[in-house]
Amino acid sequence: MKDQADRLRELALTVKQQIENEIYMNLKHTRVIAVSSGKGGTGKSTLALNLSIALSSQGKKVILMDADMGLANIDIMLGIVPAYNIYHFVQGQKSLREIILSHPTGIDIIPGGSGITELANLHREQLKRILVELGALDGEYDFMIIDTGAGISDSVLSFLLAADDVLVVTTPEPTSITDAYGVVKGLSQHHFAGNLYLIVNRVENNHEGVLLAEKFRLVCNKFLNLDIKVLGYVVNEPLIKEAIKRQTSFLNIFPQSVAARNIYDISSKLLSNDVGGDKREIQKYGGIKNFFKKLINFSKLQGE
Ligand SMILES: Nc1ncnc2c1ncn2[C@@H]1O[C@H](COP(=O)(O)OP(=O)(O)O)[C@@H](O)[C@H]1O
Ligand SMILES: [Mg+2]
Repeated sequence: MKDQADRLRELALTVKQQIENEIYMNLKHTRVIAVSSGKGGTGKSTLALNLSIALSSQGKKVILMDADMGLANIDIMLGIVPAYNIYHFVQGQKSLREIILSHPTGIDIIPGGSGITELANLHREQLKRILVELGALDGEYDFMIIDTGAGISDSVLSFLLAADDVLVVTTPEPTSITDAYGVVKGLSQHHFAGNLYLIVNRVENNHEGVLLAEKFRLVCNKFLNLDIKVLGYVVNEPLIKEAIKRQTSFLNIFPQSVAARNIYDISSKLLSNDVGGDKREIQKYGGIKNFFKKLINFSKLQGE
């Protein structure tokens, strides 16, 4: 029979466990990944969306933010018509929860819009409200994937510099490669401290992908003294356009295709160097709130 001391010990253990879990949830930060490219049309939105779905199907909670000011198109790709977007949240007309969409693919989406650029013009009190709401998402999501615009205009650069990781997408076209190199160079000049990843999209075959990625990695290493990690490549796949035509996600309707397998390989590789689940390294990622804080600071600096 258990005596009172035993019961007390059990109770103490349960309380200790609860406190530990609570601390863990408070300290856990979402891993924020910005998807970028030098040139438009390299497949940023396609990869941001399908990688989010791949990560989600591998058990991660993912929120995808459409931040391409010029061509916000995640909603078009999925055939959804968001009633509200980040503009309504920034302006205080809607709460963050009210603008987040849950998609049947398992991911959540923050519809883009011009609202993000307005962040720099808000008053202290308004910013506080916004950051408190955004901060509540930290720990709830494992990943925040951000689909940015092409190039390195000031506003795109702010997104990249504020993120934990930047994923550069290029195609094998020489102009796309030189423009991607321009992005990496821009990040290096601004002392980007996060992780840099490369994906070569629309390759003819495995060989072309591996070769190009390795060349790019070596050039960045030699001339910029930067370590860019190769995440993988995705073959050219006409079915990707077919999925967009049908306004549905490629990964869900053509999961057996080579390109879908390429995308799953990339998400596994992202997960293999993920430390978010490791309690000793929970503070490694800056998280969502910190991302927006940095973004606002950069935008303010640019406005001066
Ligand atoms: N691996 C691929 N194979 C074939 N077509 C692709 C591939 N990736 C993207 N595309 C197509 O290229 C076009 C541009 O892609 P998108 O994701 O919108 O690029 P971005 O967001 O960089 O402008 C789209 O029509 C898309 O269907
Ligand atoms: Mg796009």
